[in-house]
Amino acid sequence: MCDLNICTRSEAKSFIKKGLVNVNGETVKDPGAHVDPDSDTVFYKGEKLKYIKNVYFMLNKPAGIVSAVTDDKDKTVIDLFRSENRKGLVPVGRLDKDTHGLIIITDDGDLCHHLTSPGHHVPKTYFVGLKDPITDDSLLKLEAGVELKGDGITKPAKTLKLNEKEILLTINEGMYHQVKRMAAAVGNKVIYLKRIGIGDIKLDESLKEGEYRQLTKEELLLLKK
Ligand code: URA
Repeated sequence: MCDLNICTRSEAKSFIKKGLVNVNGETVKDPGAHVDPDSDTVFYKGEKLKYIKNVYFMLNKPAGIVSAVTDDKDKTVIDLFRSENRKGLVPVGRLDKDTHGLIIITDDGDLCHHLTSPGHHVPKTYFVGLKDPITDDSLLKLEAGVELKGDGITKPAKTLKLNEKEILLTINEGMYHQVKRMAAAVGNKVIYLKRIGIGDIKLDESLKEGEYRQLTKEELLLLKK
């Protein structure tokens, strides 16, 4: 019931104790009773619950791989998953073929749709390697917003200078080639790009390029927040 977002764990316990939950035709009042989602039928207030267990992964995308489900010529992020894990998996949003780093992969179409809808703005943090040294003036411009032809002015962003040619950049929308175009707008050029954060979810640096793991419960809550 918690996984289906019907209620919290403690509410579920109280609903069960109140006799509002029925398993296979029998009221179950013990919150510790075991239910097998594959073989048991659970009713809450007389309504049958449809339990779909979705999977959520974080992948450390290597360069040279496209963020798609299938592709005629290139390997896709889904091809990196073992075949038995692949059913219904889609990448949440896109990274360019030459971009590295964090991408969420799931079979939860509704969440994917929600997270990629135009009105949904989750800050995304990139490690950016630049061709030329970055000036303080350029950092201020990136933070304030720069004009991207056809897309308007970018929302206020955050920067952190790591050294002359490397910065962290956190942006709040997902325009086409946004980071590369922002760098170009201040007269620079991106030569290496890696996404290291989506909202409060950080790339697990123990994942080698091409490796993935399931999101933890805490990460999933952050994603659904
Ligand atoms: N900005 C880009 O330019 N490329 C990406 O892959 C992601 C953000």
